[in-house]
Amino acid sequence: MGTGKGYGKTILFGEHFVVYGLAAIASALGSYTTADVKVVDGQNWTVDDQRPATPGYKKKKFDEAMQSIRNVIEYLKINITSQKIEITFAGDLFAASGVGASAAQCTSLARALNESFNLNLDNEKINEAAYEGERAYHGTPSGIDNTASTYGGLIWFVKNLSGGKNTMERLQSPKKMPLVIANSGITASTTEVVADVRRLKEANPEKFKKIFSEYKILSDNARYALLEGDIKALGNLMNQNHKLLQEITVSGDINDKLVNMALKNGAIGAKMTGTGRGGLVIALAENEELQEKIAKSIEKEGYDAWRTMIG
Ligand code: MEV
Repeated sequence: MGTGKGYGKTILFGEHFVVYGLAAIASALGSYTTADVKVVDGQNWTVDDQRPATPGYKKKKFDEAMQSIRNVIEYLKINITSQKIEITFAGDLFAASGVGASAAQCTSLARALNESFNLNLDNEKINEAAYEGERAYHGTPSGIDNTASTYGGLIWFVKNLSGGKNTMERLQSPKKMPLVIANSGITASTTEVVADVRRLKEANPEKFKKIFSEYKILSDNARYALLEGDIKALGNLMNQNHKLLQEITVSGDINDKLVNMALKNGAIGAKMTGTGRGGLVIALAENEELQEKIAKSIEKEGYDAWRTMIG
């Protein structure tokens, strides 16, 4: 028997850009997925997925989830011909598009297998195994989701495009800042959206060059604002990041609607987070009173809104 945890995450800056080697900033959430692994007589593996989830999420992601479990088991060279592994996923992380649910699942599984089979893996190896799992979701994951899920906290992440070690730096803000996470309830396919962006980039290299250089300045400023605890500047930069995500067509109408709702109700800044075209939106609030006001206004319109702190 072995158990493991993988944290959910929210990308504060840089989804999609991070796939192309630009820096992104992510914050792990307090909520996590758990995996329990039981070794019994028989062969192969079974899975019981008890995670709370957006309706339709598990169905849409089913094939990719099964492949990701297979990838982690194979990567860790677990023998499934003379024993059977029973896997149960649970935890308080609400599985939705944008929250790093797939990475949290892979990380929790890698940790549970590590414990169950005494593999003595350190965080770096757990992260590598979780990355292999993530590859089932799209061919070119940046690795930010599994890294946030494995290490927790607030991270600055740059993918190494030559295949070497990625850069992961922990950031610490002097201030905890209230954030609202709004769930559109729509599950997007990361595979499809990432592939669309790639096609668009190939067809419009000059446009993307300009957007990438704007984003580069933006991400450096965001890092500085976080380190300074400058909530106003951060909010502003989130708004700018959202505009760039609109330009690369990953923000859907529902994302724009939720962003506008949050801004109208007092958010300093708001943007889509994660894959986009559904999924989640994040909104930064100056204080907990405003955080509550923003969350309530979103809930009033029939969407889930979660309150968390970043920094
Ligand atoms: C998905 O959470 C984040 C993306 O940037 C994909 C990735 O980084 O692999 C859209």
